[in-house]
Amino acid sequence: MRIAVLNGPNLNLLGTREPARYGTTTLADIEARLRAVGAELGVEVSCAQYNGEGELVTEIQGLRGRCDGVLINAGAYSHTSLAIRDAFAAVELPYVEVHLTNVYAREPERRHSMLAPGARAVLCGFGADGYEWALRGLVALLRP
Ligand code: DQA
Repeated sequence: MRIAVLNGPNLNLLGTREPARYGTTTLADIEARLRAVGAELGVEVSCAQYNGEGELVTEIQGLRGRCDGVLINAGAYSHTSLAIRDAFAAVELPYVEVHLTNVYAREPERRHSMLAPGARAVLCGFGADGYEWALRGLVALLRP
């Protein structure tokens, strides 16, 4: 099984970005952990991060036939991007949406997700650890 991990805008700054809110774990730390968990589960994990919405759409389009599922934190695009949801529908890839923070406890504009209606599951509020649990959950959903 192959899982693609996608991160959106500003998540490349994890570690120094608003550490009181997002923690001090870097994206490189998170990706290394996901690869290690993937190895434990017998799953190949590939990781990418883009700041641009179009870059994320292009990446998702290219994943058709190259992976079995996607773990995505689309950052602020989660709240606005019908284009990203459409891209997942176009390539028919199952995805799990993850957020470090509990977006439902934040500003009203963060309490709606454009991606959630198409997601197999949504996990938020567990900080960097949430990525690992979302990966484990996605693999469990995809394994019969
Ligand atoms: C985030 C939540 C979003 O609202 C925000 O724009 C982010 C990070 C999170 O992981 O908590 O960039 O996706």
